[in-house]
Amino acid sequence: MSERARPAVNLNEIDPRVFPATAERCTGCHQLKLNGIPAIKLTDRFGTPLYVLDEDVARSRAREARKALQSEFARIGSDATVYYAGKAFLSTAVVRWMADEGLNVDVASGGELAVALAAGLAPERIGFHGNNKSEAEIAEAVAAGVGTIVIDSEQEIARVAAAAAEAGRIQRVRLRVNSGVHASTHDFLATAHEDQKFGLPLERAVELVGRIAESDALEFVGLHCHIGSQIFATDGFRESARRLLGVYPALGELLGRPVPELNLGGGFGIAYTPAQAADAPEIRAVARELADIVAETCAEAGIAVPKLAFEPGRSIIGPAGVTLYTVGTTKAVALSGTESVEEQLDGVFDERLYVSVDGGMSDNLRPALYGADYHVRIANRESDAPPALARVVGKHCESGDIVVQRDLLPGDVAPGDLLAVAATGAYCWSMSSNYNYVPRPPVVAISDGQARLIVRGETIEELVAKSVLEGEPDAEPVALGRAKRD
Ligand code: LLP
Repeated sequence: MSERARPAVNLNEIDPRVFPATAERCTGCHQLKLNGIPAIKLTDRFGTPLYVLDEDVARSRAREARKALQSEFARIGSDATVYYAGKAFLSTAVVRWMADEGLNVDVASGGELAVALAAGLAPERIGFHGNNKSEAEIAEAVAAGVGTIVIDSEQEIARVAAAAAEAGRIQRVRLRVNSGVHASTHDFLATAHEDQKFGLPLERAVELVGRIAESDALEFVGLHCHIGSQIFATDGFRESARRLLGVYPALGELLGRPVPELNLGGGFGIAYTPAQAADAPEIRAVARELADIVAETCAEAGIAVPKLAFEPGRSIIGPAGVTLYTVGTTKAVALSGTESVEEQLDGVFDERLYVSVDGGMSDNLRPALYGADYHVRIANRESDAPPALARVVGKHCESGDIVVQRDLLPGDVAPGDLLAVAATGAYCWSMSSNYNYVPRPPVVAISDGQARLIVRGETIEELVAKSVLEGEPDAEPVALGRAKRD
């Protein structure tokens, strides 16, 4: 790359808009420090790949979201309950952090429910989601005494009513509706346009709430809508609130009482790269805009403002996470032909440096699944080498096994270097797999100079032990059909 084309970027800088706010480059040692701990001390102790969650950042983001939403809705004479969406990342430790910070927890399966309960969370602080909860999951949730179950199909009205009657309880329920709002995000992440599996049409809300109200075992608390995930613009949330509140007068008439609550789901986007930093919404501004539209719509409709509920996941835990990897190999690949010379990140590059790390799509599926991009920096040292257009790739047998599509790294990045990928707290560990029999990495929480294991990593021995050979007790043949030889 020519001098003229060299981007004016300091590759040693740790960008606080993408890395956790407590991350910094240590002035004396030149290494990345995460919440006061040199990254190499973490990896010396726990190995790589390693998921690191900054507990202080996660807690302060949770607290900030709750305070922002509660104070903005208090301003319009209402209140807000914040559920942490556990699908983003759930472990017993994280449930406790969220509970301490005054958040409830939203779970989307029997497994997530079990984690929340194992952490000792009061069941009334749990909201239970899912478009196809099994009858066993519903029965467990009702028996545990979960605060609310979000009904997501016609069949579920009867199923939840039956489970509640059986348990001798009155179950509080929400109805998930589809507001028809198309959130501007990746197609797979948008959930409230018409042609997808979640929710029921808003036009049917009155009829369906009528059916819920017929059951003595169910108490309807409000409508729920989640328009999608990783959303930057607030107009979709505002429009969704407006549409849902549009049916509240009719619902109030039907029930003979005001609908107490409105749940607008989660979906607030975060910056994964410095280029996105200016666009990522700030929770206080979102809260203010939403409170304004809710107040205005309720005033127009002549109804009291219901209590609001929200379910942010990514915006709380995503920026608290960093994944540490060790570089194994590097490979410079020519971008041949003038049309394929990449002109990006403010530079002109005629080759791409493939940097292979010891993890990949098994610990972060998002680039392969959504084309998501991430930001990476060298963690074990500084470098003044000229920048290279880098692609960080994993060790899996698939060319789409990419961790960072494109970023600049010092051109002398080499085997043995430690890389830190920012903003991996949400939907990375929770969507991890054992592809190629790669064990899932551990998760370590850091706070005030201390590191603590919060999720054990897997071992190859554990994965091998899942295979069952003839002669082992679990492999005992079971006669389930007619034998051919008879
Ligand atoms: N509430 C409901 C009903 C949801 O379905 C979701 C996310 C959330 C809350 C939390 O949304 P958040 O605030 O985290 O955006 N795997 C994808 C994201 C899928 C989100 C699914 N539902 C990703 O990696 O981007």
